[in-house]
Amino acid sequence: MALPQSFLDELIYRCDIVEVISKYVTLKRSGSGYVGLCPFHNEKTPSFSVSGDKQFFHCFGCGEGGNVITFIMKEENLPFPEAVKLLADMYGMTVPEDDGGSDQARRLRERLYALNKDAARFYHSCLMEPEGRRALEYLQGRGLSRRTIVSFGLGYAPADWDRLSRAMLDKGYTKYEIESAWLARKNKSGGIYDAFRDRVMFPIIDIRGNVIAFGGRVMEGDGPKYLNSGDTPVFSKSRNLFAMNLAKKSKAGRLILAEGYMDVIALHQAGFDYAVASLGTALTAEQTRLMSRYAKEAIICYDSDAAGQRAAQKAIDLLNRAGMEVKVLRIPDAKDPDEFIKKNGSEAFALLLDKPQSDSEYRLAVIRSKYALDQDAQKIEYSKEAAVYISTVQSPVEREILTHRVAQEAGISAAAMEAEVKRAFTAALRRERKKEESEALRPVRAVQPRETGLRYDNPRSALCEEKLLALLLEDPELLRRTGAVLAPEMFSSPFLAKIYQRALELERGGHEIVPAAVMAGLEEAEARHLTGILSAKVASADAEKEAADYIAVIREEHAKKQTEGDDRLMDALSRKRERKG
Ligand code: UTP
Ligand code: MN
Repeated sequence: MALPQSFLDELIYRCDIVEVISKYVTLKRSGSGYVGLCPFHNEKTPSFSVSGDKQFFHCFGCGEGGNVITFIMKEENLPFPEAVKLLADMYGMTVPEDDGGSDQARRLRERLYALNKDAARFYHSCLMEPEGRRALEYLQGRGLSRRTIVSFGLGYAPADWDRLSRAMLDKGYTKYEIESAWLARKNKSGGIYDAFRDRVMFPIIDIRGNVIAFGGRVMEGDGPKYLNSGDTPVFSKSRNLFAMNLAKKSKAGRLILAEGYMDVIALHQAGFDYAVASLGTALTAEQTRLMSRYAKEAIICYDSDAAGQRAAQKAIDLLNRAGMEVKVLRIPDAKDPDEFIKKNGSEAFALLLDKPQSDSEYRLAVIRSKYALDQDAQKIEYSKEAAVYISTVQSPVEREILTHRVAQEAGISAAAMEAEVKRAFTAALRRERKKEESEALRPVRAVQPRETGLRYDNPRSALCEEKLLALLLEDPELLRRTGAVLAPEMFSSPFLAKIYQRALELERGGHEIVPAAVMAGLEEAEARHLTGILSAKVASADAEKEAADYIAVIREEHAKKQTEGDDRLMDALSRKRERKG
């Protein structure tokens, strides 16, 4: 994707981030900027700040941040080029089309959306024709009504090698497009064959209603039980959820997170139209963010086997991090929600839903299940492990309830259990202090960016580089003067050097230095880190003096590195000489 930088610069200058974000978030003036409730995680007090001067946003709660394009990408769940297009439309600008690459990529995506839709129609009509009879009987045998089958657009992929491919070629799609959509694979002689054969087909539809991928289940015989499309230009497994297109319309205000296609479909058929599932892989942070945009509460309803429970544990953390309230539903005497509903009916499931376990009850149940509570020694062990967990619970009321419950279960007095919890709490506090102390001894560690892939080799210098940049991006005159005495090559961090370089270029080109412009072209994680740096800046009493101090450190560290390099070179040379001698 390479839109001309000049176009992006102009777009960012023309867009007013405050105006754009106001369309999505209620902003209130605060100091020199604006604040509001963060749209990317759930919160009750505003920690989302928007700066009109710097033209960026930053959330102190979840760490999200970036410029106006980043905002639209996240808020509208759009890829970069489409976010740019939306903004350009908003401000009456035309996205240049002379750049073959982006235009071609966009055209391919549009073709793939159309192709996927045609493929879904093809599979569905095969299901309804005689050749799909076995598949239709299979689905009906699993309890699905015709209505459900139609509303999910389920289908059947014929057993032959290339029925779908031929049908799509006839419609004018190319081999390349069919293969790019992951509907076919290439064989050795350059031909293609269908990726899904003799399978029941589940189309995956994004929140805008486009068919973007498929899952296919075998009815009998070998091969993996489910086959899923790989990532394509229109499909990213980690960013989409099965049935989110339907669940987003639900009035329930909550979401059920299940493990499988069939669970979700069975739940919808039973009236729980707010069920979704991740797509054959573990839940991702992106998926939880998507969920948190549509509901405050998530009810995890994974398989009751050990793998399902382990996955639930991870999902709890991710969903909490996305700001959702999380409950976990344990399904008694059935493998999964689909099986439970078939066995006990939807009313029974509704009853389960009405009293799901809270996170803490669930965690306690997991601990409890490890011990045989009919033996005294095990009861004591249980109370000890439970105490460690209870001591981490934030709410005092909840702590109290859990303490009493465990006391009862373990057959000890409430006072004894309280003492146990207190002990666990103090021990944790002591560990925490020790950790803090050891971190204080290694201050540089705290400097490392949270983002993976962005590591500072020289944290002392990098810290000064960060602070210097924060000063310079606010003061063009200081930037100009610094540019005359400090070359970007002296920076220890290539990432910070890149930003410095870009700022200098803008300044030399006579442009206004808006952080948002400096940010254009940065990776998402980089942009987030940069807004963090700029937001952390406090007003300086003497910016000039401060900058001079930073410059001195950066130079000193740079010089050290040079001599280190020289030393290494000398070492190598003398070793070579010794060997020769
Ligand atoms: P399950 O094995 O629990 O399947 O896998 P299920 O949904 O209960 O399916 P039925 O009831 O047997 O038809 C849960 C999910 O894991 C993914 C699929 O997304 C499935 O829905 N999966 C499973 C795969 O991607 N590949 C596999 O081979 C198996
Ligand atoms: Mn199942």
